[in-house]
Amino acid sequence: DGEMRQWDGPFQEVRSPVCVRTESGWERQLVGRFPLLTPQESLTALDAAVRAYDCGRGSWPTLPVAGRIACVQEFARRMKGVRDEVVRLLMWEIGKTLKDAEKEFDRTIDYITDTIDALKELDRVSSRFTIAQGIIGQVRRAPLGVALCMGPYNYPLNETFTTLIPALIMGNTTILKPPRHGVLLFQPLLDAFREAFPPGVVNTVYGAGRTVTPPLMADGRVDVLAFIGTSTAADALQKAHPKPHRLRLVLGLEAKNPAIVLPDADLDLAVAECIAGSLSFNGQRCTALKILFVHTAIAAEFVKRLAAAVDGLAGGMPWVPGVMVTPLPEPGKTAYLTDIVADAVERGAAVVNVGGGRVRESYFSPAVVFPVDERMRLYREEQFGPVVPVVPFDDLETPVRYIVESDYGQQVSLFGQDAEQLARLIDPLVNQVCRVNLNSQCQRGPDIFPFTARKDSAVGTLSVSDALRSFSIRTMVAAKEGDMNKA
Ligand code: G3H
Repeated sequence: DGEMRQWDGPFQEVRSPVCVRTESGWERQLVGRFPLLTPQESLTALDAAVRAYDCGRGSWPTLPVAGRIACVQEFARRMKGVRDEVVRLLMWEIGKTLKDAEKEFDRTIDYITDTIDALKELDRVSSRFTIAQGIIGQVRRAPLGVALCMGPYNYPLNETFTTLIPALIMGNTTILKPPRHGVLLFQPLLDAFREAFPPGVVNTVYGAGRTVTPPLMADGRVDVLAFIGTSTAADALQKAHPKPHRLRLVLGLEAKNPAIVLPDADLDLAVAECIAGSLSFNGQRCTALKILFVHTAIAAEFVKRLAAAVDGLAGGMPWVPGVMVTPLPEPGKTAYLTDIVADAVERGAAVVNVGGGRVRESYFSPAVVFPVDERMRLYREEQFGPVVPVVPFDDLETPVRYIVESDYGQQVSLFGQDAEQLARLIDPLVNQVCRVNLNSQCQRGPDIFPFTARKDSAVGTLSVSDALRSFSIRTMVAAKEGDMNKA
């Protein structure tokens, strides 16, 4: 509600994936702490958001578009002033490399700028009058109410803002709950929120997700749930709402995007794209390539080149130039990855790169696992980490059936040089997933393109312009044509 409040209650320590040596051995470095609010404070934030939406003329949703744009511009101007601090925290809190942390920050600023441009265009188009059957109408885009915006730990800044900014600029009031890793980096932004927006328009709620979010949902006054994370958490949040049918959902969930490498693929290109797709930010991206289907005619050669290239990747601390593999923020992750690789090895696969699968504290060296088949956990489970399963196939029916039967439906990458064969695959695949990438890795951007998915992978569409629609509803003012002047 535009106030900084003193907190006298308990705090939660924030530990970095980066480990330091202490007297008792290696330990995750302590980087800060955040307040563990109770359901009571959480509901105070909701009250503020509801008041800011409802308080009549002059309130946030009734501000002219130009007024809301000015506030968002002012916020972006102030946000640029804390770039170094946010980038530093992205490295320390989630282990993102310096290059990727800077990219995440700059991409977020670009997203804000592009959203403002898209809104000006939407506003120009939607303020037109239409006449039909003697009725003159002006269709408008109106906000939905209070939006709860929760981003994931792998893009704590960027993906939170891909929902928060469109929600705000369309006139919704918001509650922002930072993810469980990547929480401190919102602190340098609190002043900017407070100075750029009227009270109650942006409310930041710190605390354990299981404590502060169920009361928000159970209260029934949240109108939009914008959540990027696991489907289990999304389902629980949605079910906590007393009238879930009233909720607008914008969800980005899990995926297990496959690559299909055809016999005529350019192997160097396919290997380079599969590495970038599988191992950028240690494979901790919903869009990461999480299983590679490679034709048996080229599988041995592909795996040889892939293994050598993976062993050549630089691993280390996030701030070291040129580093690609870094420590993992989730405490149980190295144990999980070790188990899932061991399961594949027990069932006949091998870790084919020399350094694959070694664990040192929070660091897991990337493992290429081959040959993977449907009996192994790696075939279906979303590993969300630096493990690259390779499945040999003879008949295209195998990867196509995999995609059709999958509970996920985000993207696929196809590698091959025969344009006609690629073209034959596009239609059936684009009816199963939402993006088919030709000779390139899966990815979300550029952000002007629609980002969505089918089945259990997403609800709603995020792109610069689609997000404006996701956070608004078409309403209209109508009058009889004869009454046009009065209207
Ligand atoms: O984690 C899911 C993100 O939406 C991935 O985004 O493809 O730009 O890395 P990206």
